[in-house]
Amino acid sequence: MKILLLGSGGREHALAWKMVQSPDCSSLFVAPGNAGTAAIANNVAINPNDFDAVKEFVLAEQVGMVVVGPEDPLVNGIYDFFKNDAALVNVPVIGPSKHGAELEGSKEFAKKFLVKNNIPTAAYDSFTKDTVAEGCKFLETLNPPYVLKADGLAAGKGVLILENLEEAQQELKNMLVDAKFGDASSKVVIEEFLDGIELSCFVLTDGKNYKLLPTAKDYKRIGEGDTGLNTGGMGAVSPVPFTDVEFMQKIEERIVKPTIEGLQKDNIEYKGFVFIGLIKVGDDPFVIEYNVRMGDPETEVVIPRLKSDLVKLFTAMANDKLDEAVLEIDERSAATIMVVSGGYPESYEKGKVISGLDKVEDAIAFHAGTKQDNGSVVTNGGRVIAVTSYGNNWDDAIKKSYQNIDKLHFDKIYFRKDIGFDL
Ligand code: AMP
Ligand code: GLY
Repeated sequence: MKILLLGSGGREHALAWKMVQSPDCSSLFVAPGNAGTAAIANNVAINPNDFDAVKEFVLAEQVGMVVVGPEDPLVNGIYDFFKNDAALVNVPVIGPSKHGAELEGSKEFAKKFLVKNNIPTAAYDSFTKDTVAEGCKFLETLNPPYVLKADGLAAGKGVLILENLEEAQQELKNMLVDAKFGDASSKVVIEEFLDGIELSCFVLTDGKNYKLLPTAKDYKRIGEGDTGLNTGGMGAVSPVPFTDVEFMQKIEERIVKPTIEGLQKDNIEYKGFVFIGLIKVGDDPFVIEYNVRMGDPETEVVIPRLKSDLVKLFTAMANDKLDEAVLEIDERSAATIMVVSGGYPESYEKGKVISGLDKVEDAIAFHAGTKQDNGSVVTNGGRVIAVTSYGNNWDDAIKKSYQNIDKLHFDKIYFRKDIGFDL
């Protein structure tokens, strides 16, 4: 079967690396891909949000499955686009329907879904331009810090955590009245602050059956000690060391099962990944957010630990037979460290020649923001390469990744030297 994977980051390189190992994948196309995917698959210059271009390619190449990496094509309805097109209806799309993608596309939709299904989450209320005054009063009833979330997709920047009441009230006005995050903040969810340690759990579902993938923890801030601006993620480890059997059972019983049952109750079609952002408060898990795709860089540690054939799992999902599939996990730990362009997540330069990739040993260099340029691999984004290693424990895995990062060079290279510091 020919497969088309949409996206261009480290997540997509890791998914591509796994899929090309499957005997069921005769050729893999990645749109638009990066220099890493170009080395193992065929990159095609298509924008994943240009559904007509995706259609034309799928029909011309007789692609048998489309796997969606990032959230925006899902939130824009690529699943439904295929389902409602007579020429495409038999080509499975791995991802949720547009309705299901609202779990990530709208914070308010996600909160309503959580509450309706009795899934533990922070108490909340939501407000619009017309109810700013009520929102300001609601803030007065809460204890600091105050958590404000733009309802829509805001490129990971839509959540504000503020210590001071007046500042929180001012930011609420900035979001609702002055459209601080554009349309995404025309509605704002205000929620109770949960104090604990974060982790993520990943689930594969066909909408009815599910399989748990390994847990992971990512490091979002640019600076050491979790300081400075938020990024897409500077590193990740899997499994998360503070998840014992009892805690995992709580996650499965209180969160994963009611999530899948909730999809069924609402007739939401969903054949994809569910990425559940959790916070451990005391010994109990609470949901902070849903994402309807894999995480990046979490994919770079979760997928290397999957021993089973990912394409066979996707086929089982497409056929509503995930219960019959086998999911085997590598017992080893995996860690990834993200190498980024100096300046990221603010402005940075592109086009810097990357050297040392051929010296990486006993580790995998997943490309994130790279491209080929006159025979060289050059930087082409903020996050550039994720170096993943296995180890007998997280510490061992992290050390191996750092040893390999020392071999990589490009102008203004930066990476955090303390991934795992809190474990
Ligand atoms: P989100 O985009 O919803 O994942 O939020 C971004 C980040 O804000 C999360 O990774 C958490 O670190 C933090 N956060 C979100 N909601 C809460 C909450 N209710 N309590 C504490 N921290 C939160
Ligand atoms: N690393 C966080 C995310 O992919 O959303």
